[in-house]
Amino acid sequence: MVLCSRRRRASVSCERSVLPSVHDIRAALEATERFRIEEQIHEGMQALSFRAHNVAQNRTVFLKLIDYTPGNDEQSLREVRMLAETAETTTHASSSNLVRILDAEIMTLCGKLFVCIQTEFVVGSSVYAKVRLGPLGQQRAILNGCRILAGVSELHQLGLIHRDLKPANVMLSDVTGHPVIADLGSVATVGAQVLVRSWSKHSPLYTTPETWDHGEFSHATDVYQVGMLVYEMANGGLDIDDRHWLHVRDLGDLHRLGKREADLEDWEFSRLVNKGIARRAADQTLLAHGCAPMATMSASLARLLKRMTAPRPDQRPSVSEARNKLQGLALPNWLPVEEGVFEAQNWIQCDVRIVALRASVFQVEKRHASSERSFRKWSGSPHFADAGEAARWVEGQ
Ligand SMILES: Nc1ncnc2c1ncn2[C@@H]1O[C@H](COP(=O)(O)OP(=O)(O)OP(=O)(O)O)[C@@H](O)[C@H]1O
Ligand SMILES: [Mg+2]
Repeated sequence: MVLCSRRRRASVSCERSVLPSVHDIRAALEATERFRIEEQIHEGMQALSFRAHNVAQNRTVFLKLIDYTPGNDEQSLREVRMLAETAETTTHASSSNLVRILDAEIMTLCGKLFVCIQTEFVVGSSVYAKVRLGPLGQQRAILNGCRILAGVSELHQLGLIHRDLKPANVMLSDVTGHPVIADLGSVATVGAQVLVRSWSKHSPLYTTPETWDHGEFSHATDVYQVGMLVYEMANGGLDIDDRHWLHVRDLGDLHRLGKREADLEDWEFSRLVNKGIARRAADQTLLAHGCAPMATMSASLARLLKRMTAPRPDQRPSVSEARNKLQGLALPNWLPVEEGVFEAQNWIQCDVRIVALRASVFQVEKRHASSERSFRKWSGSPHFADAGEAARWVEGQ
């Protein structure tokens, strides 16, 4: 089953052996009498994922099935089992930003071996689903970013790194409103990481320059990926159309060889897409190319995210520094509400908005958040040439 056709997101690895049908696997899972399958979750890239009822525990769980290759996967299974055991022996705070792994086992279904990772089911939407709809606002992005870093820090304290913090792997819980790192299929022990296979298909967009260049992962890999997550939560999701990532230089090389995009095999096309992504990760233009920053984005947040996504791992802040710096940022939660209008609720006990009166003339307005009164011009505020200038003025008040 080739899952990285040109209509889908690019993935580092496109290969996957032929599977029995989903219908057969569902039936085989149910035949164990351990699970009732409630729903297949289709958002995933490669694995088979289900919402299921665990009969013995009488609870809803998230099941992820991944092909298992004996000899190759033992180390990865060890890391995931270690997390399952840690979860068993510690009282899991409901405020934790890490999903609880309930079990990780090898199962034979329809004559095929699978790793079955069972985690608690997080009711909510993934960050991926949310940012596809638009930005969450920079202050919400900061709060979520701090909590994701708290989850990352829990992992780092166990001697593990995540390696695949991408929007589809972080859920926003409807119950607590908090982010939960929901897919721990990529964790690896620091130092031994090259040996550990990942059961989450690393999306090229979130691959760091050091991973592209040397297959290297470290604590700083996680910081880079959280920087990307915060950017997307603040500004909206990155473009996931493969063609968007082709680089003009690579296309030029292709044309010089007398070839056109249409002549390429899928794997050649994926390689070209990945090359374009890797180039932009290396020169730090990836985020802006994937989604232009909102005009109202704070310069202090932009600076911090630039450091977190620095091409060289040693130029990135540590997890605790990134968390402290994020925590120190109190910023208006600007959201675009209609063409030429940005609104930030609850900023210094007011709701504030920036309105384009006409081309290159922006006005700042406010209303007391507690009342329903309509917006009025913020008295004493000048007119601004663009929304960014107006946002900087508001931030300074
Ligand atoms: N613990 C969970 N509880 C509820 N929903 C989850 C949980 N973990 C993941 N999900 C949802 O299921 C979807 C599929 O997850 P899955 O890990 O299979 O795919 P993916 O992250 O897109 O790809 P992959 O991990 O294979 O790279 C996610 O996008 C998310 O919406
Ligand atoms: Mg995942």
